[in-house]
Amino acid sequence: MEEPPYDLIILGATGFTGKYVVREALKFLNSSFPLKSFALAGRNLTKLTETLKWAAHPHSPPPIPLLIADIADPQSIRRLCTQTNLILNCVGPFRYYGEPVVAACVETGCDYLDICGEPEFMEKMEANYHERAVQSGALVVSACGFDSVPAELGFIFNSRQWVGQSAPNRIEAYMSLESKRRVVWNFGTFESAVLGVANADQLLKLRRSRPRRPRPKIPGPPPPKGPTIEHKKDIGLWAVRLPSADSSVVRRTLSTLAENPQGLPGVNESADEIEQRKTFWSSVKPAHFGVKLGSKSLIGILRIITVGMLIGLLARTSLGRWLLLTFPLVFSLGWFRRKGPSEDGVNSASFKMWFVGHGFSSSNSEGNAEPDMEIVTRVMGPEIGYLTTAIILVQCALIVLSKREALPQGGTLTPGIVFGSTDLQQRLQQNGISFDVISKNA
Ligand SMILES: NC(=O)c1ccc[n+]([C@@H]2O[C@H](COP(=O)([O-])OP(=O)(O)OC[C@H]3O[C@@H](n4cnc5c(N)ncnc54)[C@H](OP(=O)(O)O)[C@@H]3O)[C@@H](O)[C@H]2O)c1
Repeated sequence: MEEPPYDLIILGATGFTGKYVVREALKFLNSSFPLKSFALAGRNLTKLTETLKWAAHPHSPPPIPLLIADIADPQSIRRLCTQTNLILNCVGPFRYYGEPVVAACVETGCDYLDICGEPEFMEKMEANYHERAVQSGALVVSACGFDSVPAELGFIFNSRQWVGQSAPNRIEAYMSLESKRRVVWNFGTFESAVLGVANADQLLKLRRSRPRRPRPKIPGPPPPKGPTIEHKKDIGLWAVRLPSADSSVVRRTLSTLAENPQGLPGVNESADEIEQRKTFWSSVKPAHFGVKLGSKSLIGILRIITVGMLIGLLARTSLGRWLLLTFPLVFSLGWFRRKGPSEDGVNSASFKMWFVGHGFSSSNSEGNAEPDMEIVTRVMGPEIGYLTTAIILVQCALIVLSKREALPQGGTLTPGIVFGSTDLQQRLQQNGISFDVISKNA
């Protein structure tokens, strides 16, 4: 079979996030990297041209092909799949626009990565396309952005610190967003979040309709619910539970692992790769997982709760949704803007994600009601929505391009199970996202 002309195509390149992904991909367009060629796709040629100019600045734009494709025209999406082995999808909200792209990739056997943070979309794609993707050999991996790779790799990193007989019972992630300026995100993420809350019942219905997946065996009792607002003095944060995609993605990874304790075999792994995968996954110990959003001040937490309540109350009615989506700046108390953050704003922001693991120092202590050991690790990096997301998506893509034989044949899978045992963590570290052990106390 003749190789398609492009290593990958970035679909939705003109979007706020898409343009950062293009800029990140350009850094790796060089003969010494596996990325030899790529194309940008979108529905507006002028916008694509502008995007390439912005992404290449201060250099002149390289001769990258610009392809016209519209989600509303399935033929145009199928055409993209015949021109590449890998689509990076940045078109959201995914509940509106994602399925035709997944369907075309699954039909043609083209690999697919996206930056979705919408659990309903991901679980629906898994329910409807997993078997067909396995058959066609299309690797479909959602959540290859800040949602949910830091959570997945951060969980795995903490879990692997529990060596010997020690084992975690729960790993709680505390996310803190920092900036010298006001933290602001683009409307696209707000819209996806509002629609997620509006359709929360659909997600419950979908989950109830699916067969129960095996749960991992976790030592000790289920963790206590804990207070609504927690003051986590040791890391200097007030924190509140965040109903993000991360928990559901990590849970899916742990279910896949419960079914396949040695991870998923690659298409054509070498003996060394098989050994490395088995060794890696045997060192990952399951635990209960949750995510909290943190703030250095109690006022910051009250602000987060206020925005959460406004979205929770208003997103359920059409008038409320209209208000939220028409006045995002007002109802998000300044966090989401139609035009997105300024470049300075993006460059001055960063994140820290603390993973606080509680567990048992030995199998003898597992019968105890209370864990007797704590391990704290941290993932840290630049601004989450556009810098970290672009870095992660591009590094996942480079792994697909360079190590396809070592990755599963196909299926709709989580980033943790596909990339967990690869060198993704090292690649992220080389690109400004760090993983550190902070403390171990027994
Ligand atoms: N995982 C994460 O952490 C993370 C981070 C950032 C964003 N996201 C998600 O990424 C998505 C995009 O966010 P954003 O802020 O970049 O939004 P955005 O600026 O509105 O970008 C949307 C993109 O989709 C394109 N698009 C819309 N309808 C289309 C159609 N019918 N055919 C082809 N392309 C179409 C737009 O093209 P036009 O330019 O032609 O309108 C644009 O390129 C959201 O779902 C957001 O939640 C996730």
